[in-house]
Amino acid sequence: MFKVNEHYLKLPGSYLFSTIGKKVNAYSAAHPEAKIIRLGIGDVTQPLAPSIIDALHGAVDEMGKAETFHGYAPDLGYEFLRNVIADNDYKARGCNISADEIFVSDGAKCDSSNIQEIFSLDNKIAVCDPVYPVYVDSNVMAGRTGEYDAKRETWSDVIYMPCTADNGFAPLLPSQTPDIIYLCFPNNPTGATINKTQLQEWVDYANRVGAVIIYDAAYEAYISEEDVPHSIYECEGARTCAIELRSFSKNAGFTGVRLGFTVIPKELKAGDVSLHALWARRHGTKYNGAPYIVQRAGEAVYSEAGKAQLKKQVAYYMNNAHYIYEGLKSAGYTVSGGVNAPYIWLKAPNGMTSWEFFDYLLEHVNVVGTPGSGFGPSGETYFRLTAFGSYENTVEAVERIKKMSI
Ligand code: MLT
Repeated sequence: MFKVNEHYLKLPGSYLFSTIGKKVNAYSAAHPEAKIIRLGIGDVTQPLAPSIIDALHGAVDEMGKAETFHGYAPDLGYEFLRNVIADNDYKARGCNISADEIFVSDGAKCDSSNIQEIFSLDNKIAVCDPVYPVYVDSNVMAGRTGEYDAKRETWSDVIYMPCTADNGFAPLLPSQTPDIIYLCFPNNPTGATINKTQLQEWVDYANRVGAVIIYDAAYEAYISEEDVPHSIYECEGARTCAIELRSFSKNAGFTGVRLGFTVIPKELKAGDVSLHALWARRHGTKYNGAPYIVQRAGEAVYSEAGKAQLKKQVAYYMNNAHYIYEGLKSAGYTVSGGVNAPYIWLKAPNGMTSWEFFDYLLEHVNVVGTPGSGFGPSGETYFRLTAFGSYENTVEAVERIKKMSI
């Protein structure tokens, strides 16, 4: 008789955003007249920029002619895309990353969950608390996290690094030594950032204790402050301890198009084993590459016109972030984030738990957000709102919340 991967059975509930989706659908079915505003999952709402649409059209036409047709993509992704990434995201910022250290993929969610595969099950992971749930869940599925404590909502073999108002939502170096450290800045869900000196401390620490940092920089396009690093490779020594994940979802609206990449420097080694070589082996075996037309669309993100159009799109969402931040603050809420990130992190009012506040908002003003406890125990009394809605919906949601009696 076949057996299932028993580690899956340890997972509590369904994926956070699936649970929210089900709750909202049930509410909507019971109240078809309700005009629900969704500021829960960080899904973009603005259409693709014109230069990206032009690139897609052009690539589709190429696929229709024998002489310009493309079949399987190269293992690491097309060179035309990897070159513009290396030039714009790295060399232009003084980071020494070459095109052959970039692995193009269909997004950072997949890469952030798959990357753990190249590490031994004996490795101990450290995560921020709260944290993007994919990092932990993917390690649970692999069998790396020990047993679940339902009361504390923690795993016995995971090192949690609380990110609270007291530490400015920035993790402190853990007291127990981890092997793999997940960091995400600008942070999902809190919207917090750390400056270059703070990130350098993490890099120095990882090199000192022999840990690897998996650095999720999916939200780097939203950085507005000078001293916030856009890449971990801005720090000295990162080439020997860090993997960086990037996404086209948030900076270019590719949530439905799918494109991302992972950077693994050639110097990053466990003993004499190169992580670059292991990931290349995994990529070649298990992945057939992002579609040609999508990689051409990715290339357009770096064209002069593309950059100008996307700067406007990011500004549009950050205007929403500002509106939410200021609106809720003026209504007496305790808010943070929203300056270098499209997420606003607020304290649930009147001692409510985060799921109580979720239900309250949905039922009383038909606004959907994300309960902080879905990201970890330290998120229990917090709530996340995304700035990725339309401006009109954002304004209406804030006005509804301001008028709400709690
Ligand atoms: C989020 O809402 O946290 C993100 O949209 C999830 C994701 O990017 O996968």
